[in-house]
Amino acid sequence: MSGIKIRGTGSYSPENIVSNDDFAKIVETSDEWISTRTGIKTRHIADGDTAWSMGKEAALRALKNADMSAEEVDLLLVTTVTPDYYTPSVSCVIQGEIGAVNAACIDLSCACAGFVYAMDMAHRYLSCPDINTVLIVSTERLSGITDYTDRSTCVLFGDGAGACVVQKSEGLFASKIGADGTGAHLMFGRHHRSDSPFSSKAPVENEISKNPCKNGVLYMGGREVYKFATQVMPETIMHCCEKAGMALSDLDWIIPHQANIRIIQTAMKRLGLPMEKAWVNIDHTGNTSSASIPIALDELIQSGKLSRGQKVALTGFGAGLIYAGLVFEY
Ligand code: ACO
Repeated sequence: MSGIKIRGTGSYSPENIVSNDDFAKIVETSDEWISTRTGIKTRHIADGDTAWSMGKEAALRALKNADMSAEEVDLLLVTTVTPDYYTPSVSCVIQGEIGAVNAACIDLSCACAGFVYAMDMAHRYLSCPDINTVLIVSTERLSGITDYTDRSTCVLFGDGAGACVVQKSEGLFASKIGADGTGAHLMFGRHHRSDSPFSSKAPVENEISKNPCKNGVLYMGGREVYKFATQVMPETIMHCCEKAGMALSDLDWIIPHQANIRIIQTAMKRLGLPMEKAWVNIDHTGNTSSASIPIALDELIQSGKLSRGQKVALTGFGAGLIYAGLVFEY
């Protein structure tokens, strides 16, 4: 079976740290509510940082840890739901900034499942003879699309970036990517729309456009997303383990999307695995969408607790509704 080799990881979190008490000053909330309902204590919020600048820093750190140069990258995959521009893509901007002159560039919009989708895509591209090295960068400036008057969402999100240099290798690998677009209206951020001088009709309606919430900020049906997450997270891991012909108990680490500690606890319980096997950093990151899994992966690697040969599962879910999971040998 062909697997993947993680050559190096890196991450970047903005210096600006915002506590739950800071939120209590702007909305009707408390440290007690946020801590017990979500597991979040602090999160990093961009202060001058952009999606590309955070991604650039994470990418440079990953390349340094991989002991590789940017010129060696054949494909640069960037995942984000918060690109700095409509166009060019964040991947092209980062490619230019780091000098990855030989890299093709693709941006993926797969919400919080973005990094796992990108790993799946990297694995597929690496089976082609002309792609030897893939750099994945997941970068999010969610603060740019957060409604800081909505207490049910604003306390959840943070900013940051994670990156990973991947190459082909022997060893275990199995993935499951999917989506349920019938839940598209459960979490979304609508564009500010501008009409052309040649249009007069109102846009075609759907469940998203009918929602009276503000444009330009994230809306989330928290309870429905919670239910979806606690179902798909364990299911994707079970599916991947079955595909790889391994038992759940063979997994050494689970790195789940960091959206809510209670979602992670429920998923681990459904898998019958102890919480000690889950890498959790939500207390100091909040939910950084697609950046959350690679930031957690980088933390786990830098902690020295992940050894070569250990088996790792990643699982993410998010707006779409989308989900993805994979298991691999580190
Ligand atoms: N502080 C105080 N009270 C609050 C706050 C807050 N920050 N937010 C909501 N409440 C109140 C609500 O108004 C409600 O009050 P009411 O009972 O008087 O109406 C009460 O708390 C309970 O609200 P619920 O929505 O039922 O709270 P719940 O326990 O479900 O927690 C939460 C809400 C944290 C959003 C949870 O539903 C959740 O984590 N959902 C999943 C979210 C998620 O994973 N999103 C990410 C997916 S995509 C991505 O990562 C980008």
